[in-house]
Amino acid sequence: MENVDLSKEGLVGWLEENDEQRVKALLDSAYNIKAKNIGTKVFLRGLIELSNKCSKNCCYCGIRNANKSVARYELSEEQVLDAALFAWKANYGSLVLQAGERTSLAYVKKVTHLVQQIKHLSNGELGITLSLGEQESDVYKEWFDAGAHRYLLRIESSNPDLFAKIHPRDGHHSWERRLKAILDLKDIGYQTGTGVMIGMPYQTSEDLADDLLFMKNIGIHMVGMGPYLKHSQTPMGELYNEEPNLELSLKMVALLRHLMPRINIAATTAMQVIDKYGREKAIMAGANIIMPNMTITEVRKEYQIYENKPGIEDDAAISKGKLEENLRTQGIEIGWMEWGDSKAFGDSLQMKNK
Ligand code: 5AD
Ligand code: SF4
Repeated sequence: MENVDLSKEGLVGWLEENDEQRVKALLDSAYNIKAKNIGTKVFLRGLIELSNKCSKNCCYCGIRNANKSVARYELSEEQVLDAALFAWKANYGSLVLQAGERTSLAYVKKVTHLVQQIKHLSNGELGITLSLGEQESDVYKEWFDAGAHRYLLRIESSNPDLFAKIHPRDGHHSWERRLKAILDLKDIGYQTGTGVMIGMPYQTSEDLADDLLFMKNIGIHMVGMGPYLKHSQTPMGELYNEEPNLELSLKMVALLRHLMPRINIAATTAMQVIDKYGREKAIMAGANIIMPNMTITEVRKEYQIYENKPGIEDDAAISKGKLEENLRTQGIEIGWMEWGDSKAFGDSLQMKNK
């Protein structure tokens, strides 16, 4: 296809492009860039939602602290290790441990211990990604030393004013603090991931173009981004917003692949909410990571950051089976037993050692 203009104006133009054939050409070109730079395999990360307890109150999120209709849970160590063992035996290369944000010392130590035990039970084979919110840098370091090697922390929006609109002004939600945490993670040596929500109230195409350029400018190694979905028990759920639109998320993935050919990009669950094959479509538009849910069925329904989350009645084996079937029908190959680390991260290490 013609050269894709990746200036801010060019990105805005693509985000607002409605011509079906031009959009298809953009997505196809992103797939080709992925194939050329990092290959076409998809890597899986089994997702374990450790706990829905959260000290924060993000205005969009269904498990925000102020939502009293959520039954709060915390998996026992045994439940987590069972799930990890399942993932390992099922030939998954990596796990993601995700939870709401908590910072108590007891909690920090619990996570450290879990990471160590998962490493131990899998002979060091399972790669571990953490997604546990903002923490002090010495906590990030402790978890890194315990064996976690990737961390996801979304900036949510690269625009500080928009960030301020979608978070409460209670002194606990700061864009600068979030950015510092992301940079701390990079400094410590994590493969660092960030991301944004797409199609939020107040968000413009310029904001989304800036989000893509922000990811490029900070040299992020991994990205997970997806459509914003209303949750009725949240302050933002009451605001008017247009219907979520998968195509906008696919264009974001495709443009990011053009900007950053060698990073890992996730096809996120939120994409699957608005289209049964949303994740597979994202793979065809340049994404290369999927995070199948491994959380035990009993608590899945309590981890609804947005409504209509798919698969809440399923168990880990069913989620895995459905996904494999979907990928197979689309001819998409899975990288079993492989970590599937970000090639962009490997490149950055090589640069440092030169
Ligand atoms: N819609 C889409 N994504 C959401 N997240 C939280 N709430 C929503 C929502 N209503 C995303 C945020 C957060 C991640 C854990 O889930 O980007 O970082
Ligand atoms: Fe907590 Fe994360 Fe939800 Fe914010 S988005 S309320 S930090 S779980």
